[in-house]
Amino acid sequence: MHLHRYEKIWLWLGGAGLAIFITLLAINAFAMGMQPPSDMQMIDPQKVDQTPPFDKPGLKQIGEKEYDAYMTAFAFSYAPSVIEVPVGSKINFHVTSKDVVHGFEIPKTNINFMVVPGHVNSASMTFDKPGEYLILCNEYCGAGHHVMATKIIVK
Ligand code: CUA
Repeated sequence: MHLHRYEKIWLWLGGAGLAIFITLLAINAFAMGMQPPSDMQMIDPQKVDQTPPFDKPGLKQIGEKEYDAYMTAFAFSYAPSVIEVPVGSKINFHVTSKDVVHGFEIPKTNINFMVVPGHVNSASMTFDKPGEYLILCNEYCGAGHHVMATKIIVK
């Protein structure tokens, strides 16, 4: 089979690019330990309302300005319905679903994750600016998906 010179060059470039990509991926995964979060926290989605701390969704103060927020997502809302913290507070969100897959996004921040039944998903954020922060569902979950939201009041 005859290959044109340019064709050979492009094949080598493509192959080299692929090799570099796979090498970087392997370094990230194995040497630097960048891996998807493991499912350390599981929960029976049928028994969320009976499983502490999700039986009483809400804020728990764990430091001077640090809170654990245990929240549940369900069609078509979140519990607790409103969260209030003083400005400068760090909130560690722990969220699980009671029914289907929902989303948990605070627009214009880095907080954006899926809420999957059977799992507890976590993320932390410090609220340095006072105001109202919207939490919204960004995974289509049914007829009321577009109204599924709650808020955090920082003052
Ligand atoms: Cu919950 Cu969309």
